[in-house]
Amino acid sequence: MLAGLNTGRRAVKVVYYYQHIDNNNMIDILGRMTKISIVTGATRNLGFSLAQGLARRLDEDDVVYLTGRDSGRVARSVRLLSGHRANVRGEVLDVSDREAVERFAGAIADRHGGVDIVFSNHYARVQPGENPAEVIDGYVAANNLGTTHILRNFAPLIRDNGRLLVVASRAGSLRALAPALHGRFENLQTLDDVDRAVCAWRDIVRQGLAAGQAWPEWINIPSKIGQVAAVRVLAQQRRAEDLRRGILIAAISPGLIDTGASRQWLDMTGAPPPDEVAIPLLDLALEAACDAAFYGGLINLGRGEPGRFRTLVPWI
Ligand SMILES: NC(=O)c1ccc[n+]([C@@H]2O[C@H](COP(=O)([O-])OP(=O)(O)OC[C@H]3O[C@@H](n4cnc5c(N)ncnc54)[C@H](OP(=O)(O)O)[C@@H]3O)[C@@H](O)[C@H]2O)c1
Repeated sequence: MLAGLNTGRRAVKVVYYYQHIDNNNMIDILGRMTKISIVTGATRNLGFSLAQGLARRLDEDDVVYLTGRDSGRVARSVRLLSGHRANVRGEVLDVSDREAVERFAGAIADRHGGVDIVFSNHYARVQPGENPAEVIDGYVAANNLGTTHILRNFAPLIRDNGRLLVVASRAGSLRALAPALHGRFENLQTLDDVDRAVCAWRDIVRQGLAAGQAWPEWINIPSKIGQVAAVRVLAQQRRAEDLRRGILIAAISPGLIDTGASRQWLDMTGAPPPDEVAIPLLDLALEAACDAAFYGGLINLGRGEPGRFRTLVPWI
């Protein structure tokens, strides 16, 4: 199928040829200017708002992958989208499954040759009544190892001027951790080092020894620090070349969002809904040029949060 040539603003991106491989897979041969976006954990709340916002703000030729771990919820979320212009494709992706992430990255490379925007947004919840020792394995598998799977597999696919953004939180700063523990997340050189540091903490939690070593009770805090540490390590490896190519890799603190992930932990008075929280994240992902000062950092995009909007949350 050869789409027609348009005129005007979209002229550079409309020669778009699909070769059908099977019902689901298509190779985008000439559509290199088409923007390709991926959102993980997009079956509710912030992830859904990010996928919907991208699909509304991008063009008809662009493709947004709305991904999630459950096929029924992915299909339902695609049906629930409204007002979108871009082509939305639902895709099942459990980020804790390393091979599934590798396969999906391979499929994206085959279909499109690369990706322009990735929001690593997924979050496996923990609630106050749950025993950390019992839930920590699944929690870390999705929130931390899942994030490093995404970073490892999608960073090499990011195109010039692309964005690889990890939705973390204000908790992803060493300031939220006892000073005696800072060394666990410092001087890490590789994503494997980050995984080892996070898994060492996971094992302490599993053994019920975390409180005795001054780890916080809310496992969200070290987990978010692990996510930000992963972004910092990857950025350290890629900085010069990414800045030359206009690529931004960063973590994001979106501020409080009124969702079931945090409602039982925090005072949600005045917390905005996901659609509102998504706006500055979408602005950052879609703006033509990015501020090099943000590269590799944790960017405060939460209105009403401590610290100035669109400044870096200090690491230490
Ligand atoms: N809520 C807040 O106040 C707040 C504050 C700061 C930062 N954040 C961050 O913002 C992000 C979104 O938060 P939220 O409140 O929207 O979370 P949420 O409502 O719990 O949604 C999380 C999404 O991640 C998906 N998910 C869970 N495990 C997964 C896996 N293994 N693979 C793929 N997807 C998976 C969930 O899918 P299912 O539907 O299948 O469960 C859901 O779609 C998270 O990174 C969170 O830490 C939130």
